[in-house]
Amino acid sequence: MYLSRFLSIHALWVTVSSVMQPYPLVWGHYDLCKTQIYTEEGKVWDYMACQPESTDMTKYLKVKLDPPDITCGDPPETFCAMGNPYMCNNECDASTPELAHPPELMFDFEGRHPSTFWQSATWKEYPKPLQVNITLSWSKTIELTDNIVITFESGRPDQMILEKSLDYGRTWQPYQYYATDCLDAFHMDPKSVKDLSQHTVLEIICTEEYSTGYTTNSKIIHFEIKDRFAFFAGPRLRNMASLYGQLDTTKKLRDFFTVTDLRIRLLRPAVGEIFVDELHLARYFYAISDIKVRGRCKCNLHATVCVYDNSKLTCECEHNTTGPDCGKCKKNYQGRPWSPGSYLPIPKGTANTCIPSISSIGNPPKFNRIWPNISSLEVSNPKQANVCDNELLHCQNGGTCHNNVRCLCPAAYTGILCEKLRCEEAGSCGSDSGQGAPPHGSPALLLLLTTLLGTASPLVF
Ligand SMILES: *[C@@H]1O[C@H](CO)[C@@H](O)[C@H](O)[C@H]1NC(C)=O
Ligand SMILES: *[C@@H]1O[C@H](CO)[C@@H](O)[C@H](O)[C@H]1NC(C)=O
Ligand SMILES: *[C@@H]1O[C@H](CO)[C@@H](O)[C@H](O)[C@H]1NC(C)=O
Repeated sequence: MYLSRFLSIHALWVTVSSVMQPYPLVWGHYDLCKTQIYTEEGKVWDYMACQPESTDMTKYLKVKLDPPDITCGDPPETFCAMGNPYMCNNECDASTPELAHPPELMFDFEGRHPSTFWQSATWKEYPKPLQVNITLSWSKTIELTDNIVITFESGRPDQMILEKSLDYGRTWQPYQYYATDCLDAFHMDPKSVKDLSQHTVLEIICTEEYSTGYTTNSKIIHFEIKDRFAFFAGPRLRNMASLYGQLDTTKKLRDFFTVTDLRIRLLRPAVGEIFVDELHLARYFYAISDIKVRGRCKCNLHATVCVYDNSKLTCECEHNTTGPDCGKCKKNYQGRPWSPGSYLPIPKGTANTCIPSISSIGNPPKFNRIWPNISSLEVSNPKQANVCDNELLHCQNGGTCHNNVRCLCPAAYTGILCEKLRCEEAGSCGSDSGQGAPPHGSPALLLLLTTLLGTASPLVF
């Protein structure tokens, strides 16, 4: 598929068939923003944390090369097979479709052979470095959900840096360094992602795993998202709850997997030998046949739909949030500060909906006057009801406010505001006062985390 072709597509993705999902079971949560539930009092909306499906993000990017004229074929050029300096009858000609290698070919469908690929001009200006930046821009924050995979048609570069931006290309941070010799190229000790741990998962490493040789089965470079997830979710990502819990509590971890742009900085092409063969510089160039980037729109757990319209991605925000990432409350729904949805409690999370501004309700209500009792308040007007977090009412004893209408209570407590000891209600408290009750004021999140995740404890980065 060519960029020019998909720019005109008005795409809407809602669901991707589960066959295409790499982890249908574990990724299946958070696919509903709200649902109608039936209570004794009738139908009410129940709001939940939600996010779009993970999908192929290369369909929605713009690609930019620096220098802009680095693609081969203008003027036409012959090049040699990487491994054989005497096989130099290949030609790149930008004006002939069959011989052209434009950047779009990095993102088209790779069927069986022959593969289509982007190719740079050759290293004819050696020893001046042959360097190329390939910048992929989404103009939208996206969350990576699978490895970034780059397939080279020729040898993998001797030196390369993968960079990311979180601010639409204004500032860049390295994501990973790649070299045949990390110490020599970047003054870094070589490491593999497998050398990292939960506590060092955010470390930026230089790897030598992907830079040696140019045999047919070593054309691929990974940026290992899944291995990093596995530090929390286990080797086969079975315990996604643990990862989600960690993402919820650790912004730095969330941000690590979030990007608006990626940049592949090709710094030195594959040479394959110790010395550059100056008599056959047409052996040296970059060629990439495929780039895979899987992820989802970042909608702050307030949307399941991300629309591609006018070559722009936008979340279709629920929960009365708005903005490209659902990053703020709608007008007249600013009754409390905006906050992202929460993955906790697993598996449905907390929507943290925006609630009506007090001033937007015709008659500024006194909660106790308009809604005389808590139980009628909860069901009579769930949209406006703000039972657990308002001027008058707060969840007690470490309970957390769920969807504005319900406190999630620590195990020992019950009641709409977690105001009652469970044993009191059952009449089984016994004489040993406080037995079975957790210490007052213990943070609810910690309790939730420990009950939900068993052994996992929040990490500090
Ligand atoms: C590539 O981008 C980096 C910043 O990320 C910049 O310093 C460098 O000069 C660029 N190189 C080329 C060839 O444009
Ligand atoms: C948001 O507001 C609209 C009315 O403008 C209402 O219909 C809807 O249910 C509200 N959603 C939430 C999550 O409060
Ligand atoms: C509280 O609300 C319930 C449910 O609507 C109602 O049956 C009950 O009479 C109300 N109690 C008072 C004191 O108003």
